[in-house]
Amino acid sequence: MRHQPLVIGNWKMNLDYVEALHLGQQIGVMLKNKPVEHVDIVLAPPFVDIRSVTSIVESEKIPVEVAAQHVNANENGAHTGEVSVSMLKRLNVTWVLVGHSERRSMYAMDDATVSATLRHALRGGLRVVLCVGEALEIREADDQDEFVRTQLVSALKGIDARFHELLSVAYEPIWAIGTGRTATSEQVASMTAHIRNVLSSLGVDAARVLYGGSVNTENAATIVREGLVDGFLVGGASLKAESFLSIVQSCDDCYDGKR
Ligand code: 13P
Repeated sequence: MRHQPLVIGNWKMNLDYVEALHLGQQIGVMLKNKPVEHVDIVLAPPFVDIRSVTSIVESEKIPVEVAAQHVNANENGAHTGEVSVSMLKRLNVTWVLVGHSERRSMYAMDDATVSATLRHALRGGLRVVLCVGEALEIREADDQDEFVRTQLVSALKGIDARFHELLSVAYEPIWAIGTGRTATSEQVASMTAHIRNVLSSLGVDAARVLYGGSVNTENAATIVREGLVDGFLVGGASLKAESFLSIVQSCDDCYDGKR
């Protein structure tokens, strides 16, 4: 592993603020009992839970950071239902997911909006996880490399070098999200290498590359070891402290074993 691993729990539209507090507390207690040495852990709750989660993280000194699942590309104004970078920063949010496939497919987030949002979030100083990944038809036609390359170039071309350290990329094939059908380690390893090549051609060498899509306690250790990723973006399995921290532990063990 070239980088310290990163594991992000994307809670999506699950858990109200009371449930979020409870999960945050459980994660805090478990991390206190069994500290994780080498993994950066990030929680991405729904907007309405963020205040509760950052409060408990700060008061209990839980070693995690907090992400938003989405942000608007504008600073403020008439954008009903949206949230700005400065609002997130005021809540001590330090990360944001940009271009998750659910935003792209269900909320009409096109490549241009992904690019504008990413640039705006970086200028505001947030760490950005750019999400990329192909649909099943594209994988079946064996066009996934070109598809992901286009997504990366569109989002990252011309980004000022001073922002590179704020960037990570999550490869989430749409056919593996929430389906229980995980990409094989070979598929993950091949796409991870491809993404690193594209990033390198754009001058962005330092970004961590994560995998997401039906990651669970059973498959995490194999995917992180054989898929050569720098960590995971976890959906369903991040909603329980035990399964989420077991995935974190797999990354910690892998990093330790390779040093
Ligand atoms: P699942 O882990 O539930 O498949 O979700 C993956 C994902 O979309 C994380 O962003």
